[in-house]
Amino acid sequence: MTIIWLFLAVLLMAAVAALVYWLVVITEGVYLGRSMVVWLYDVTAHKYDGIKEFDADAEHFFVIKPYLQHLPMHSTPLLLDVATGTGRVPFYLFAEPTFNGKVIGVDAAGKMLAVAVEKLQGQNGRFLPIQQVADQLPFSDNTFHGVSCLESLEFFPSDKKALQEMVRVLKPGGSLMVTRRTGWEAKTFIGRFHSPEACEAMLAELGLVEVKTFPWQVDYDRVMARKPVNGR
Ligand SMILES: C[S@@+](CC[C@H](N)C(=O)[O-])C[C@H]1O[C@@H](n2cnc3c(N)ncnc32)[C@H](O)[C@@H]1O
Repeated sequence: MTIIWLFLAVLLMAAVAALVYWLVVITEGVYLGRSMVVWLYDVTAHKYDGIKEFDADAEHFFVIKPYLQHLPMHSTPLLLDVATGTGRVPFYLFAEPTFNGKVIGVDAAGKMLAVAVEKLQGQNGRFLPIQQVADQLPFSDNTFHGVSCLESLEFFPSDKKALQEMVRVLKPGGSLMVTRRTGWEAKTFIGRFHSPEACEAMLAELGLVEVKTFPWQVDYDRVMARKPVNGR
């Protein structure tokens, strides 16, 4: 009898540990509310770049180059990076000699933005950080030539609401670059996982055209789209 109770106790402890791991590590607090997600990023901000181990060549070939090729022609484009974190997108954009634009980086976690500001302080005001949640962007309609949001949509309270905001602030003809979570962990984001078809359909429903998904890394696809000019 004692052995059975012991076995049940171990089983219960393992189930609780697995639940906590899923809630905190795999889904990064998203089922515990926005404040929990932001708090987790704030407490790990100083370690983020070390954990991600970004590779400059990979960022250039798989993110920045396709984004620059997709952007509408402009000598000094104004770009928005939603959930900019430690400034990955602006950092690698500014490393491109052909890029002469400015980037506004929005993130809800102040400590992630503080790391971005430190990394980008040599950019003479070409980077502007704003601490703000993704589903209430403090910009007028049709402001940006490009809007990016990497590795973040699945952590927002509503990815659709955030995407609606991104589309609203994009100029007609402007580029959207976002990511779709893939891999086995993506399927544990209950009620938040999108197949490539569902993700593309959601973007088309928001009025975007030329929606295309590109395989990128183990955990993410890169999805590109354009805001139509004159509704076409
Ligand atoms: C995985 S990181 C991605 C950061 C960056 N885009 C990158 O690729 O390195 C997710 C980011 O989303 C931010 N975030 C989470 N929820 C947010 C929300 N509701 N509004 C704005 N930012 C949010 C976090 O603070 C964090 O910086």
